Amino acid sequence: TVALNTAAKAAGKLYMGTATDNGELTDTAYTTILDNNANFGQITPANAMKWENTEPEQGTWTWTNADQIANLAKTNGQLLRGHNCVWYNQLPSWVTSGSWTNATLTAVVQDHTTELVSRYKGQVYAWDVINEPFNDDGTYRSDVFYNTIGPAYIPIALRAARAADPNAKLYINEYNIEYTGSKATAMLNLVESLKAEGVPIDGVGLQSHFIVGEVPTSLQSIMEQFTALGVEVAITELDIRMTLPETAALLEQQKTDYDTVISACRAVSGCVGVTVWDFTDKYSWVPSTFSGQGAATPYDSNLVKKPAYDGIVAGW
Ligand code: XIL
Repeated sequence: TVALNTAAKAAGKLYMGTATDNGELTDTAYTTILDNNANFGQITPANAMKWENTEPEQGTWTWTNADQIANLAKTNGQLLRGHNCVWYNQLPSWVTSGSWTNATLTAVVQDHTTELVSRYKGQVYAWDVINEPFNDDGTYRSDVFYNTIGPAYIPIALRAARAADPNAKLYINEYNIEYTGSKATAMLNLVESLKAEGVPIDGVGLQSHFIVGEVPTSLQSIMEQFTALGVEVAITELDIRMTLPETAALLEQQKTDYDTVISACRAVSGCVGVTVWDFTDKYSWVPSTFSGQGAATPYDSNLVKKPAYDGIVAGW
């Protein structure tokens, strides 16, 4: 069968990629698949670049894990997505429980973004500068950044990222914007206003953590609505979970669903690529996060290709 990144490139895309995590890199059966850039032309660190891991104390930087994944991308000839600069989750306690003013937290956001993006200058294809800024109803998420700075924290981080690596594509990444509704509308409005104000914004990431049999029919049209605003889009964290146990019927539906998602990216010229949120059920985040669910990726827990794999190839 055709390799996944090879198939994506044959369709005119930049890459098909995967998330990966440091603890998995000693598993040679896993890395044999990961390291072959015919399979994956892009990698995203699932945790290594997050704030709690890169700056656990203010001004104390721990780069070992992030460097490992950045170096792996270089060695393998893979594009790297930086993930992420500013997010409400996986923050160190000095950020969440600091007593900030608008001015002091603005300086912290600028400093963290500048240090992180500068470290990998010239190595990162795209940065998720902002991750998950909205609630599902389209209002801004009430986190330390929004509550202290207001929505201005978004342009503040984007401008710092642009200054730190002018060649990296700057993204806002979000989930549940793949469905028509308030959250997608809020993101469309945000991108439109950032563009109007001259704030650097190059792309929107649609995370795409989906459920078997429930892939949103609006996916392609929403990507087209974003690209019409003058930004690119990427599917950044694709997985399609099911309620366990897996059955032959569910795995067949999952194959159809992967085909549907890939086909949507293929059909939108501004969709640059698709990243799965790890490629094997062995390391997927799904079972530990969604109780009773799993089997969400294209390779099973023995690293054997599932019907979903063929669905991806068919989609490209
Ligand atoms: C997940 C990781 O995969 C897990 O290992 C970690 O425990 C929690 O975060 N949206 C995101 C990702 O943007 O950063 C999350 O990654 C999954 C949801």
